[in-house]
Amino acid sequence: MTTLTLTDSKIASAKVDALVVASTAGDDGAVLVEGTDLPKNALSHLRDSLAATGATGKADEVVKLAAVPGVSAKLVVVVGTGSADATVPDAAERYRRAAGTGVRALVGKDSALFALGSGSDYAGAVAEGVLLGSYAFQTFLGEGKSAKAKAPLAKAQVHVKGRLKDDVAGRAKVVADAVRYARDLVNTPPNVLFPDSFAHSVSKRADGSKVTLEVWDADKLAEEGCGGILGVGQGSARPPRLVVMTYRPARAKAHLAFVGKGITFDSGGLCLKPGASMVTMKCDMAGAAAVAASVLALAELKVPVAVTGYLCLAENMTGDLAQRPGDIVTMRGGRTVEIINTDAEGRLVMADGIALASEQKPDAIVDIATLTGACVIALGDRTMGVMGNDDELRERVTGAATGAGEAAWGMPLPEEIRGTMDSPVADLKHTGERAGGMMVAAKFLEEFVGKGSDGTPIKWSHMDIAGPAFNEKKAWGYTPVGGTGAGVRALIQLAESYA
Ligand code: BES
Ligand code: MN
Ligand code: ZN
Repeated sequence: MTTLTLTDSKIASAKVDALVVASTAGDDGAVLVEGTDLPKNALSHLRDSLAATGATGKADEVVKLAAVPGVSAKLVVVVGTGSADATVPDAAERYRRAAGTGVRALVGKDSALFALGSGSDYAGAVAEGVLLGSYAFQTFLGEGKSAKAKAPLAKAQVHVKGRLKDDVAGRAKVVADAVRYARDLVNTPPNVLFPDSFAHSVSKRADGSKVTLEVWDADKLAEEGCGGILGVGQGSARPPRLVVMTYRPARAKAHLAFVGKGITFDSGGLCLKPGASMVTMKCDMAGAAAVAASVLALAELKVPVAVTGYLCLAENMTGDLAQRPGDIVTMRGGRTVEIINTDAEGRLVMADGIALASEQKPDAIVDIATLTGACVIALGDRTMGVMGNDDELRERVTGAATGAGEAAWGMPLPEEIRGTMDSPVADLKHTGERAGGMMVAAKFLEEFVGKGSDGTPIKWSHMDIAGPAFNEKKAWGYTPVGGTGAGVRALIQLAESYA
């Protein structure tokens, strides 16, 4: 794993294998960012080289230059950051991504100095980008392949001018570590990561932390009336679990509940998915991974906000006890649900989690789930959909995500959707109209949000991360192929906004 330190020494004379600097997209091609602190001859050499190579400065562009005069490092890497008007949340995020692109271009190298921004403002973002971009999931590579696979950059330094008042590197490490843990969970194959082993992984990681865990097995789930989680899990030989994570700092400013969808594999159940749509369905526990990772990170960061995390873990399979269309299940809290399509399993496990979370009457409930293909159709594969019963909270969640560098977009929850889930034989059915499928799923979840001490519904927001949770395309910025850790930074930043 890449180690990271901050430095304010001269970048031209740094004794490293590579120096990484940034360019922006100017009208006539790539322009080095202002404040790149190099001697004149180095700067003019770089300017000429960028022009000669036709560099654009666009995001994800990498130009490698050897033997730059006036620079001790043998290699200079110029990474594009794009332009300010690009559809990127903010400047810090452009640098975070560029740092990720830069570190990915340095696989196999020993040391590099990242001098992307001109000031200290971007140091944290750059540090995060480096640690996120250097991620590689190599646990399951066989002897031959793993020997060949090059290790990520060993030592990264991030350049900052002057002293920083906050522990920028420390925070970046905790945050990146959390994202990397969530990615590991998502990438771990479903024959290895199933409800019980997921719970064990989190228990192990929580050891010695300020987070206490409670794990409910199938018997306990039955005792507690969690028919949603049980119904989905009953088709698998690997029984479901509910993990409750509790973090209670002294003098907490608020109490938040995070609920995560943890379907360790989604075959669709009896309403079986076609083979091609099933291939990536180990990612269907990415919401629970984001909750687990963020709650542990918040404790490590000592954020003064109480958090309860609920991991709703089940495997959606087709065993002979599998739930059938037509079944009626009784959910936590006593409501009955008619099962229509067993592939709409996420909302069932989440409904129990949200009902349980409501019983504690937290200040807000935020759930996160790879819930609907409709979300991917609507918002694409990089943007999460955010919905809820309270405009202010939805904006707060969207703002926290965007501020952390995660693309998020608010969606409405029109009242007329609810009627499409009326059932003649149960309190409601769990699917409605196909149109607006992302909102239909969210509207179902809203039914299970309880009332607070003042008798009004608890503020609730829902994040659908079906698109951004798993990258099936090429790596870009700091986002690798496979599990991305979507939602981790958003949840951390959201909790911090209450501190
Ligand atoms: N896990 C899927 C949603 C999903 C799709 C996540 C693509 C990530 C990428 C979910 O359980 C599902 O199958 N949803 C169905 C709901 C439908 C049956 C109402 C869907 O979206 O098709
Ligand atoms: Mn499904
Ligand atoms: Zn699913």
